[in-house]
Amino acid sequence: MSQSPLMNRPAEPDVTIFVCLTCRHASEEGVRPGKILFDAVQMRLAGRQDSQVALRGVECLSVCKRPCTVALAGPGKWTYVVGDLDKEASVDDVLEAALKFAATPDGIVPWRERPQSFRKGVISRVPPLSKPLEGA
Ligand code: FES
Repeated sequence: MSQSPLMNRPAEPDVTIFVCLTCRHASEEGVRPGKILFDAVQMRLAGRQDSQVALRGVECLSVCKRPCTVALAGPGKWTYVVGDLDKEASVDDVLEAALKFAATPDGIVPWRERPQSFRKGVISRVPPLSKPLEGA
């Protein structure tokens, strides 16, 4: 008996961290801060066994004036876009926010539990496709 192709799909990660690799600060000619942030997060994830965390570099999250920019997304969860992150100082915040996001059923981390940069830098949140919204 053949299996459905869906049965062979690897489990979706609880969180995918998208990092824009292409933004630039006007004052830093040639430097791509998102690439520096991406490399640092990738290095930190390589030393962990968190299979529920995935990392992807992307070209533009349409928040070009607020680098570094990232998005946190996961199945059945709200997607958060966050900007104004620092390429070096925000590495721990990105990992902390991603792990807290992954641990929620809906992606909503209480404001007080978010790292400081994720309290200040939220640009938007987008509802999940797969769940009905409360009050809708
Ligand atoms: S180039 Fe980074 S958000 Fe547009």
